[in-house]
Amino acid sequence: MKRCLMVACFIISLSLFTACSLFQPANIKKPPMTTASALWQYITITDPYTEWEQFDDTAGMQLGAPPHGPRIQIYPNKIASSSVYKANESSIIVMENYDKDEKTLLTINLMQKRPNYAPSAGNWFWAAYEPDGTVIEEGKIKRCVECHVSMAFDDYTFIHQW
Ligand code: HEC
Repeated sequence: MKRCLMVACFIISLSLFTACSLFQPANIKKPPMTTASALWQYITITDPYTEWEQFDDTAGMQLGAPPHGPRIQIYPNKIASSSVYKANESSIIVMENYDKDEKTLLTINLMQKRPNYAPSAGNWFWAAYEPDGTVIEEGKIKRCVECHVSMAFDDYTFIHQW
């Protein structure tokens, strides 16, 4: 009887353990808050942005305008897509800039919400990449902020409504 109980306990704990590992979020690793190249590794290898679910209001190929591409695709990470009213800390928004043919990838832009990073500019870290991941510029890029500030009421984003 005691043995039976022990076996039953073992089976129950084993199934609980399996269930827990199955229901664990696929990506528990937090995005780095360091350099644009570390972030590139994260968004292409650790947690590929192309697999992120898009915002309902900006899903699929969208029309863009200068300085961005004529066609754009927007990919928010899970934290961003589940944020309401404004982007929560650790939110990342990746934007692919395409040519009019909708195939030629021109550049990739990124915004990442960091704690106390730039309190007067929405705490966003900005980055621009070549399609192969070469960093064009990164950080508190004045040009990005000066234009996106006109959308400060929408947490500095143009295309998605929080
Ligand atoms: C002159 C204005 C302007 C400048 C400068 C600018 N942006 Fe944007 N940005 C926009 C507009 C407008 C959109 C909406 C998409 C579109 O119309 O192309 C946008 C969209 C984005 C998005 C998608 C999220 C959103 O806001 O909807 C990202 C990410 C982004 N920009 C990053 C950057 C980065 C990084 C820089 C600097 C390297 C930058 N932007 C510079 C105007 C600007």
